[in-house]
Amino acid sequence: MNQTCHDRIIAPSVLASDWGRVAEEVKRATEAGADWLHLDAMDGHFVKNISFGPQFVSAIRPHTNLPLDVHLMLTHPQNYLEAFIKAGSDQITVHVEAEHDVSTTLKQIRDAGLKTGLALNPATPIDDVMPYLNEIDLLLVMTVVPGFGGQSFMENETMPKVSAARAMREAQGLDFHIQVDGGIDAQTVKIAGANGANVMVAGTALFAQDDMAAAVEGMRGAD
Ligand code: DX5
Ligand code: ZN
Repeated sequence: MNQTCHDRIIAPSVLASDWGRVAEEVKRATEAGADWLHLDAMDGHFVKNISFGPQFVSAIRPHTNLPLDVHLMLTHPQNYLEAFIKAGSDQITVHVEAEHDVSTTLKQIRDAGLKTGLALNPATPIDDVMPYLNEIDLLLVMTVVPGFGGQSFMENETMPKVSAARAMREAQGLDFHIQVDGGIDAQTVKIAGANGANVMVAGTALFAQDDMAAAVEGMRGAD
């Protein structure tokens, strides 16, 4: 495995930005040195919150050249793939717990030329994603129960899964990113990194800072 494939990637979550000035917020994150932008779509059914759909992704697309990392918290992601693809997503992550044929959904994403991601909730065992590891570019180990920003990092429930994912990746000679999402800040990023995560999603801890560039660099270098 080429180590540069797993350099740390910082992905601010737009959920925590000021949506009244979202174009400026996206520009702020881009100029702060973010690597990807993370976009959380929620349907009010798979999670207990409603956020935005594909139109929001298309509204953001012209304001940055960063890869748009779209996280679908939807019960039926397969019904909305086409719209999120047309909206300009670069990669789409779906949940293993959603109601769909996971391999078919991943194939549709891949066939459209996008990167594929698979997510699991804190309560879901790592075994549930094992059958799909050779079909993904990214594994998202949720570090909070998804639905809301600003929650606390669930270290005990989730870090063993991050380490297990890293071990499986090495054992199987695979090359997917390991992403964490929820409660990531200047401190918890170190714990996630030490366990094997390389893609750090952070909402509150980045958008709340006046100097986002310093916060991004702080997270990139923290270990
Ligand atoms: C949670 C979302 C996250 C959220 C993270 O349901 O998937 O991406 O924006 O927010 P923070 O970093 O504030 O925990
Ligand atoms: Zn997310």
